Amino acid sequence: MSSKKEILVTGGAGYIGSHTVVELIEAGYTPIILDDFRNSQKWIIDRIEDLTGNSIQVHEVDCCDEVAVEEVFNLYPNISGVIHFAADKAVGESVQNPLKYYSNNLSSLTVILKAMDNHDIKTLVFSSSCTVYGEPEKIPVTESTPIKEATSPYGDTKIISERIIKAEVDANKSLNAILLRYFNPIGAHPSGKIGELPQGIPNNLVPYITQTAKGIREELTVFGNDYDTVDGTNVRDYIHVVDLAKAHVAALDYANNQNEYSCEAFNIGTGKGSSVLEIVHAFEKVNNLKLNYKIGPRRSGDVVAIYAEVDKAKKALNWSSELDIDTALKDSWNWESNGIHNED
Ligand code: UFG
Repeated sequence: MSSKKEILVTGGAGYIGSHTVVELIEAGYTPIILDDFRNSQKWIIDRIEDLTGNSIQVHEVDCCDEVAVEEVFNLYPNISGVIHFAADKAVGESVQNPLKYYSNNLSSLTVILKAMDNHDIKTLVFSSSCTVYGEPEKIPVTESTPIKEATSPYGDTKIISERIIKAEVDANKSLNAILLRYFNPIGAHPSGKIGELPQGIPNNLVPYITQTAKGIREELTVFGNDYDTVDGTNVRDYIHVVDLAKAHVAALDYANNQNEYSCEAFNIGTGKGSSVLEIVHAFEKVNNLKLNYKIGPRRSGDVVAIYAEVDKAKKALNWSSELDIDTALKDSWNWESNGIHNED
């Protein structure tokens, strides 16, 4: 039986983190958030409390600060697992400023692993990415598709982090680690109370679309339409953030039930690929509006096409995505257009 106890969630105020905190509470866990709010907003916590009717323990701490992290672990002797989201995530910025990425993403992980070891905590769920597969030779990708040389320092930190966790599991033989390889998270909570808060000009497709529809951006540029895909634009596996959040709960339950130590990777996607233009047209259709867009040149570093084979998560975690792209695009627009996320 899994014991439904306290779960430390680093980066719990962020986009995926906040949705996961809501799902953890729904599932009977008690999340404790550790976040330094460098890329998230404090009022998101009020929204989570409002949504769930629970008050949340929050600690404003940088995960690289070993002393402060240790203090938080000392406060909660009953933590039964850690979900480690906290990391920098902008691919382009990581190319401009690699040390920021190697330093923050890798130090925070080692600090968390050390604290887990000090406190004998055996369950870790880690945010990895489909970026570890690079440009795959075959799609869909399975968890045994070869890991490729990373094309950005951000991607490299995900590959190295997976390696660090595996080495720690092998050495320590007491840790159950789950590496969740996310595909492309989109959407927002259906309540419209929490969602993605990109800083500055969005890099990702869906926030760029919603900001264009709202008039914050003039026009979306579709990065290339001469790829060898269904309509010439890149193909990705877009997954609703609420489904992705639920995968973390399933991963925790699974890891808590493992007797042996293990480090396992799971693809967390829908199993379905969509092109950029399919997303643009689905967004227009479900929200009944017209989007300003133009076709531009390719963006360097983009893989042509990738989507997940999701059987492993379905069988082992008893999890699969339930919400379709139309729902995700409706929820993204609901979050953007109702404007309540601009309040402080
Ligand atoms: N795109 C556009 N115009 C935009 C933004 C994006 O056409 O203004 C296109 C991209 O070229 C790509 C698709 O939309 O084809 C998706 O792009 P995103 O930036 O939303 O997502 P990526 O697939 O590039 O990146 C995501 C995650 C990264 C992760 C990467 C791994 O954001 O964290 O997948 O492939 F590293």
